[in-house]
Amino acid sequence: MTAQENIEIVDVPPEKRPGLDYILEESFEGWYLWHSRRRLRDVEIVRAAMSSDKPVGLVMTKTLDPNIGYVYYIAVAKAQRRKGIAKLLLEDSLRLFKSAGAKDVFASVEEDNAPSEGLFASEGFTPTSFNEVSKKYGNLHTVNMYRVMTVVPGEVLLHKVMS
Ligand SMILES: CC(C)(COP(=O)(O)OP(=O)(O)OC[C@H]1O[C@@H](n2cnc3c(N)ncnc32)[C@H](O)[C@@H]1OP(=O)(O)O)[C@@H](O)C(=O)NCCC(=O)NCCS
Repeated sequence: MTAQENIEIVDVPPEKRPGLDYILEESFEGWYLWHSRRRLRDVEIVRAAMSSDKPVGLVMTKTLDPNIGYVYYIAVAKAQRRKGIAKLLLEDSLRLFKSAGAKDVFASVEEDNAPSEGLFASEGFTPTSFNEVSKKYGNLHTVNMYRVMTVVPGEVLLHKVMS
């Protein structure tokens, strides 16, 4: 049996989110660890991959407006990587965005982060830029979206058009 067959993806309400902190601790450092912990507390949606009732991965998402979904963070416990768990979490988020009517989904990843670039590319995300996004959504809306998405220097914004 593959890891994927044992995985269940569930919503995590705010009171249960501290149980996911160990995954962030293993996955991020410095500013990203601080920021991901903060988001874990206040972000709209947290979904966890559960294996035998233990959380082994998480994804944090937000609807930026009814047409636009954003993936803040996706992370998998070190011992559980390369088993397709992040892919399951991302596919689950894309399904939820789609059923909510999203037309575009964004994510930002650090430059030269091969695992996350590979993960998002495998689900059809491609790099985009402020100029490209503002052609579609206008300058002001794009500035506001960048602020909410917290795209920082050294990151690449990725985009997927929902079909
Ligand atoms: C990025 C991360 C979430 C991937 O989790 P994972 O469960 O190991 O990923 P999956 O097994 O689902 O892999 C899905 C695809 O991602 C890519 N990928 C995952 N790990 C990779 C690696 N180490 N090197 C290159 N590509 C990788 C591959 O395309 C893979 O598909 P394949 O196995 O068919 O080749 C995990 O490495 C992690 O938690 N990293 C630290 C946190 C982070 O950087 N998050 C992303 C930015 S928010």
